[in-house]
Amino acid sequence: MTKVAPLEICVNGSLHQVNAAAGTLLIDYLRDSLGLKGTKLGCGTGECGSCTLLLDGDPICACLCTLSAAAGRSVTTIEGIADDDSPHPIQQALVASGAIQCGYCTPGVVLSTFALLTRHPKPDRQDMLAFLNGNLCPCGGYPQVLQAIESLVEASRAE
Ligand code: FES
Repeated sequence: MTKVAPLEICVNGSLHQVNAAAGTLLIDYLRDSLGLKGTKLGCGTGECGSCTLLLDGDPICACLCTLSAAAGRSVTTIEGIADDDSPHPIQQALVASGAIQCGYCTPGVVLSTFALLTRHPKPDRQDMLAFLNGNLCPCGGYPQVLQAIESLVEASRAE
């Protein structure tokens, strides 16, 4: 029987070797094997964005990404940029603007915003909409999310 070499994947800065069944989804590995429950499963079909994380810095839907597609690459989940004791400034801005309602979409929104601000430190409204386009908010908190991003941009201008 041919032995299959384990996959290597870097998650939040830690290297993991994984023997997984073919077709295993990244979101299942993160949630079930690593216990990283911050990546939320919503639609499971790439429509809602609640499973958004960063793959080599780019926002992707973890529900559509196989583990083998992420092999050799770097995954950042919400746990990789913040923890309960030390919320990320994006999380703080979302709280301050009232963008946190049920919170289900929030990890994905935070990571899309993280990618946005990495690429465009001073984004205009079009940049914001382009990056947040894939993140649906069941509570309809879009104005508050944009307000939070604008407050971060304002704060960085004042520095
Ligand atoms: Fe992945 Fe909805 S759960 S896009």
